Amino acid sequence: MPALYERLGGKPAITAVVDEFVGNVAADARIHQRFGKTDIAHLKRMLVDQIGSASGGPEKYMGRDMRSAHRGMKITEGEFTALVEDLVRALNKFQVPAREQNELIGPLAPMKSDIVGV
Ligand code: HEM
Repeated sequence: MPALYERLGGKPAITAVVDEFVGNVAADARIHQRFGKTDIAHLKRMLVDQIGSASGGPEKYMGRDMRSAHRGMKITEGEFTALVEDLVRALNKFQVPAREQNELIGPLAPMKSDIVGV
C-alpha cells in the first residue's frame, strides 16, 4: 500500500486540509482566542510539514517539539478535543476515508500529554 502521504493526495491535499482545519479553528469559539497572537501563515506551514513528515512525505518538520510549542498555555482536555474535532471536520469535508483519518488521528493521542496541562 502507498504511504499515507500518497493516499491523502500529497502536499496539495494536505495543504487544503490544513487551510480548512485552521479556518475551522478560527471560527471555533471554544479555542480561537488561543490563536489571537499567532502567526497563522507560519502555523499552517508548520502543520503541513508536521503532517507531511508524519505521513511519509518529503517534508521536514523544523518547528518546536510539542511540549515546547505549548508550554505555559495550560491547554485543557476540552480544548484538545475541540481542536481534534475541527481537524476531523476538515477531513470529512474533503472526504478523506476512515482508514486514512484513523492513521492521521491515531498518532495525536500520544502527543496529548505533551500538549494538555503543560
Ligand atoms: C494534536 C494536537 C496538536 C498538534 C499536533 C499541534 C501542533 C502545533 C504545531 C506544529 C505548532 C507550531 C510550533 C512551532 O511553530 O514551532 C503549534 C503551535 C501552537 N499551538 Fe498547537 N497543536 C496541537 C494542539 C493544540 C491545542 C489543543 C491548542 C489550543 C487550543 C493549540 C494551540 C497552539 C498555539 C496557540 C500555537 C502557536 C504558539 C505560538 O504562536 O508561539 N495547539 N501547534
